[in-house]
Amino acid sequence: MQIIYLIGFMGSGKTTVGRALSEAMQEQAVDIDVEIESRLGKKIVDIFQDEGECGFRIHETATLRSLQHIPIISTGGGIVERQENITYMKETGVIVYLKASYELIVKRLSGDSSRPLWQGNQEKRALYQRRITMYAACADVTVDCNKLTLEEQVDFILSQV
Ligand code: S3P
Repeated sequence: MQIIYLIGFMGSGKTTVGRALSEAMQEQAVDIDVEIESRLGKKIVDIFQDEGECGFRIHETATLRSLQHIPIISTGGGIVERQENITYMKETGVIVYLKASYELIVKRLSGDSSRPLWQGNQEKRALYQRRITMYAACADVTVDCNKLTLEEQVDFILSQV
């Protein structure tokens, strides 16, 4: 089974698109962040607080690898920070990049305090710039989230996988 991995920056819509795909395909979808929170019984912010980003990345990789039976997986924005995650996703499925402009992300994440790495104007922009290169480099399919509605995004993904 080819797993559909949704990747992209925080706020690009990975969870929402995962749910919509799940409905359209009548298949199960899992969000890695939600899964980590439920397994550890802790919010992402608290995991970052207690174990640091490094600790969080260990849970993220372990969770990714434990979901082989799930056809649709919404990843966290930092899944591409570890090359081993990219290699694993390439080997087991198709990587779908939800591409959204910085302006759209800023609008969507306005007032958000649940994401520890979404802090400081310069840091946010630098992280975005660094990450978009990483997403583009590993994507099999790229979805233009600025131009397509949710329904169009789902149709486009289904036509490509
Ligand atoms: C992160 C993105 C978050 C979450 C964590 C780290 C990142 O997920 O995994 O806060 O490094 O970009 P979302 O992309 O679902 O917000």
